Amino acid sequence: MNRFDFLVLGSGSAGLSFALDVADHGTVGIITKKERAESNTNYAQGGIASVLDKTDSFEEHVHDTLVAGAGMCDPGVVEEIVRSGPDTIRRLITLGADFTRKDGSLHLVREGGHSQNRIIHAADMTGREIERVLLERAEAHPNVTILEHHFAMELITCHHLGEKVTRYSEDNQCFGAYVLNTDSGKVERMLSKVTLLATGGAGQVYLNTTNPEIATGDGVAMAYRAKARVSNMEFIQFHPTSLFHPEADSFLISEAVRGHGAILRNLAGEAFMQHYDERCELAPRDIVARAIDDQLKKRGEDFVYLDTTHLPEEKLKQDFPNIFARCLEFGLNMATDLIPIVPAAHYMCGGVWTNINGETTIKGLFAAGEVACTGIHGANRLASNSLLEAIVVARKAAQKAPEMVRKASFCEDIPEWDDSGTVNTEEWVLISHNRRELQQIMWDYVGIVRSDLRLKRAFRRTKMLHEEVESFYQRTKVSVPLCQLRNMIAVAYLIIRSAMLRKESRGLHFSTDYPHQNEVAEHHTIL
Ligand code: FAD
Ligand code: SIN
Repeated sequence: MNRFDFLVLGSGSAGLSFALDVADHGTVGIITKKERAESNTNYAQGGIASVLDKTDSFEEHVHDTLVAGAGMCDPGVVEEIVRSGPDTIRRLITLGADFTRKDGSLHLVREGGHSQNRIIHAADMTGREIERVLLERAEAHPNVTILEHHFAMELITCHHLGEKVTRYSEDNQCFGAYVLNTDSGKVERMLSKVTLLATGGAGQVYLNTTNPEIATGDGVAMAYRAKARVSNMEFIQFHPTSLFHPEADSFLISEAVRGHGAILRNLAGEAFMQHYDERCELAPRDIVARAIDDQLKKRGEDFVYLDTTHLPEEKLKQDFPNIFARCLEFGLNMATDLIPIVPAAHYMCGGVWTNINGETTIKGLFAAGEVACTGIHGANRLASNSLLEAIVVARKAAQKAPEMVRKASFCEDIPEWDDSGTVNTEEWVLISHNRRELQQIMWDYVGIVRSDLRLKRAFRRTKMLHEEVESFYQRTKVSVPLCQLRNMIAVAYLIIRSAMLRKESRGLHFSTDYPHQNEVAEHHTIL
């Protein structure tokens, strides 16, 4: 199969939700680079935010989102996504999602920045439950084909018809994607009438990240190369609490643990959050992550502690079975031991610009989920708003897309992939070394606290990596590690350039050279 009415790149919450909704209107191909469940969605812990309690209101959820977003959210988009919350939860339950209940009602918890208990969850494995039901339903639909181990390399646009395309041109159109079948090693030309980019985030650009291996920013890089509008890439969210252990691979300790009363302490055992924000442990993530960073720098230490020892063991086991078990694997009992933690790159608030319906600046190309920048998160995402956004925007895109499919036809003039002049190479060390170097540069110079000097240094070094890898790419047969590295460098460039353009500190972007927020109206960074 190399043509689908709807081509979906990515099998996380956004891709699967869209696929399910459009499946009655035509053939759907879901392209996914590893096993079908492997996605950021699958690792989501805390939950999905929605107003369901009688004491809560849409106005409060909107207000909390706008406060976290530091003046950069699109209020109309926030309002629409927040108001779609209850329907989204009901639909997931109808599809079969088994969320945690208490006395028969959905159990609602709180996370940083929320003024109410409004996080619906499935213990501490909410993402796994959402991924499970969406996958099961998609697999059962006769119009849906899921192609695992298929890596989307490039979006096919007017450029591939030999037309000159300028950035954000209204005449550009997407006709599908070139996809590397990693089992056969062949690049396939996949034609579509509508394409959804749902490739998720880019945490792997940083040395320490809560994201799994798949999160290499492929979608943003492809869209940028295809000349789509990309926005607000400087706003990278660092989750305050990832497990600090040489073998833990930055395993996330959910914010919901702080929502249950866990306390942050420095190595002297002192609670410190009250010195930074009156909301203490439940301040928004940017504030908590910066406070931890400040403690580490001032005290010259490598980690701080998350203290849950005052919370009842049974409750910890019941509410956080996955986190409790994982900590035990590393010899840490949450009921008796302090848990060493550090911040880690977690979420990309910027991305491919879309409207509320997921439409990008390229015709026939939608984007939804973490790859997209709809305007809900602004300069800082409120916890548990992302699964909500991914599903709501994917659903809205699915309402628009069938009409486009009815009017479109496949573009038969698209050439097959041309790999003439390229050779196989054994120089894999170049890729792994450059990947590591890029991650280190981003961690050291483009992290929680930035400065002009650090950003300039990161820019120069990333440019060198770009030149080296681009020339390697031009003469080498394509492979997933090489394409991912190329995409990660492109994403790093977008983050650094955007950070350099912002001459203030706002939300997740903090610069020691411009420590204050500008009073003049905020601007969006557009590349
Ligand atoms: P993903 O779920 O990441 O799916 C992307 C898909 O695209 C994957 O299938 C991937 O393999 C595929 N893909 C990527 N590139 C390519 C390519 N080139 N070719 C083919 N396929 C490709 N958010 C919340 O709201 N609440 C939470 O509690 C929460 N907890 C989190 C905990 C962790 C540890 C992490 C990492 C994130 C968490 N988030 C949470 C964020 C949230 O999980 C993600 O933002 C959301 O799941 C993104 O969904 P998505 O569909 O956009 O992308
Ligand atoms: C968490 O459980 O802390 C993650 C929630 C989120 O990223 O929204």
